[in-house]
Amino acid sequence: MKELKLYIGIMSGTSLDGIDAVLMATNGTQVELKERCHHAFATPLRHRLLACANGEPLSAKCWGELDVALGQAYAELVRQLLHTANTPASEVAAIGCHGQTVWHQPDAPLPFSVQLGDGHRLAAHTNIVTINDFRRKDLALGGQGAPLVPAFHQQVLADAQRVRVVVNIGGIANLTLLDPQQAVLGFDVGPGNMLMDAWCQQQWGSPFDEDAAFGLQGQVNQALLASLLAEPWLAQAPPKSTGRELFSMGWLVQHLSAQAQPVNAFDVQATLAEFSAQAIAEQVQLLTISQQPLSPQLLVCGGGAHNPLLMQRLSALLPHWHVNTTSSVGVDADAMEALAFAWLAHQTLQGLPGNLPAVTGASRPAILGAIHLPG
Ligand SMILES: Nc1ncnc2c1ncn2[C@@H]1O[C@H](COP(=O)(O)OP(=O)(O)O)[C@@H](O)[C@H]1O
Ligand SMILES: [Mg+2]
Repeated sequence: MKELKLYIGIMSGTSLDGIDAVLMATNGTQVELKERCHHAFATPLRHRLLACANGEPLSAKCWGELDVALGQAYAELVRQLLHTANTPASEVAAIGCHGQTVWHQPDAPLPFSVQLGDGHRLAAHTNIVTINDFRRKDLALGGQGAPLVPAFHQQVLADAQRVRVVVNIGGIANLTLLDPQQAVLGFDVGPGNMLMDAWCQQQWGSPFDEDAAFGLQGQVNQALLASLLAEPWLAQAPPKSTGRELFSMGWLVQHLSAQAQPVNAFDVQATLAEFSAQAIAEQVQLLTISQQPLSPQLLVCGGGAHNPLLMQRLSALLPHWHVNTTSSVGVDADAMEALAFAWLAHQTLQGLPGNLPAVTGASRPAILGAIHLPG
């Protein structure tokens, strides 16, 4: 068996809640989580990122400053992670850093996806080889540049005896189909937590609807739900990916203003949770899956796995699926994406591809990312 080496993965997703970092050991096939830590974004940084992701005009100066501020925050979290794990930087083979997506337009005439977080600074300040900018090679090959986690899901969760669907519910939700009888399939499903978070922040000043405390006080408004579910992007065939560019507060406000009757704030919160659950369940039901000896599992990861309303509704909407979190089968639901980028760093250093063309739509498998050497 090949020797395990240490890698660090850093993820900060579309929820803009903060940064997740993991220390893990891998040889490509085996994966062991060693340590994990999270750092919440300071409010001013979060507001600047949100403005940028909402498409507000940004000067080159602000852009550069955001890039550096994120690079510094990532480097600080790496120092904290290594300190907690009592591990010297010299033992880490590489950092895989997703960066912070500020714009993603894979289907425009000039398609691109930009993640900020200065990789040079991260490499120089940690003294560890750093790989970032994982998405643009796939886009250059005609792909969506997303999702990139399905190859890792396949590595850690494929089961020869049953069909598994992994649903990562971050700001956006994406799913991966792992069926022993067919190639891996993966695509973005729609908003995961993003609209729920935005509404909660606007109405009650809370960063998110913790344990669905607000949503559970409301009733689903069927007219609003039908209007949200009618979004044409949801019915588009994969490959597809999305972000804040589509599912913004502006998008929600348009749907709310089109309602004949005003909808109360708790009911909006409940309806947004139902919308996220139904958008996921609908795509799961559309999948063609093989018959296997064991019954199919829907395994949830990302912050949405902590939302009891979402989990309840997914179980109710998918009675033929055994719904649980990835933690229940040994992969920490809160660490999944950071683990994936640590693993992708390993793939790149080994000269192995990280994308799955059947998932992203790229013309071929490719070695992903930009490598920053500390020396
Ligand atoms: N206890 C909880 N109850 C409800 N929602 C939660 C809870 N914990 C986390 N979340 C949700 O998870 C989100 C963070 O998920 P995460 O996987 O980090 O997303 P991203 O990758 O987009 O940053 C939060 O913004 C929140 O919506
Ligand atoms: Mg997050």
